Amino acid sequence: MQNRSKKLLNDFETFLQSHLPQTESFHPHYQKALTEMFQAGGKRFRPLLLLEVVDTYTPLLLPAAFHIAAGIEMLHTYSLIHDDLPTFDDADLRRGHPTLHVTYDQVTATLVGDALNSHSFYMIANAPLADETKIVLIKELARNGGAEGMVLGQAIDCHFENSPLSLEELSFLHMNKTAKLIAASLKMGAIIADLDRAEQEKLYETGLKIGLLFQIQDDIIDATFSSEEAGKPTQNDTVKNSFTNLLGVAGAVREKEALIADIETMLGEVDPELKERLNNMIAFYLK
Ligand code: IPE
Ligand code: IPE
Ligand code: MG
Ligand code: MG
Ligand code: MG
Repeated sequence: MQNRSKKLLNDFETFLQSHLPQTESFHPHYQKALTEMFQAGGKRFRPLLLLEVVDTYTPLLLPAAFHIAAGIEMLHTYSLIHDDLPTFDDADLRRGHPTLHVTYDQVTATLVGDALNSHSFYMIANAPLADETKIVLIKELARNGGAEGMVLGQAIDCHFENSPLSLEELSFLHMNKTAKLIAASLKMGAIIADLDRAEQEKLYETGLKIGLLFQIQDDIIDATFSSEEAGKPTQNDTVKNSFTNLLGVAGAVREKEALIADIETMLGEVDPELKERLNNMIAFYLK
């Protein structure tokens, strides 16, 4: 990873850790549970996408962009906490640490997810940006991370857990559960940087491909990594709709390579500096 990106990640981490929700009450573990999954780790892939865009075009806006990147990471973390619940994937490990419903109980994990979902929008609402910009950002995150995006994808994933989908249906699932939030991260960076609508859409479309690639890679991780390497249970998708189950590991790898080629073509139309930054991210996280 390039030094500039490492610095963005480090600075973001410092910001995130000092902007986690703070509550006071006589509940014995509510506050600790709220923040625990952020201290456990995580790649911060979505925040970095947003920050790379802002740093390319309007680096003076980075301090404000951290609020938005933190909001996205909070929404993503809520989705993981709920995804791990027994009624979803029933996973006992996340980011190398026991999941919240294992450490505490299902009520705590469900409520921490709920709280982080709300708090992600609170972060954006409080960012030092113009109100009109913040409304557009809130709409993007709500649409892509909510009913028409991540939640729809999770609903399809869980409902069809034991019934095989076609490749087209599986792509629709992955687009919604994972790719839209990743695409929104790039687009929200473009909104902060005040790029024109055509540039925003170009980044969103490229982000959808990067997001699909991300979920295919995640399916390959499930099929081929140890749970120690992944920091979460693996071989957990054996009855699920995943690219590896539908196409085999070799088929999923071929799909990945085709997507990387598509993304390379799409990035041909993006500012050369941003293109290089995104290529570096793909090389670091997804190859
Ligand atoms: C895992 O996301 C869930 C998917 C959408 C594939 P990440 O792989 O980004 O998980 P963290 O944030 O690094 O833990
Ligand atoms: C979950 O996909 C994507 C979310 C929206 C949380 P997975 O169920 O494959 O994610 P992991 O493998 O548990 O991280
Ligand atoms: Mg899942
Ligand atoms: Mg899961
Ligand atoms: Mg997975």
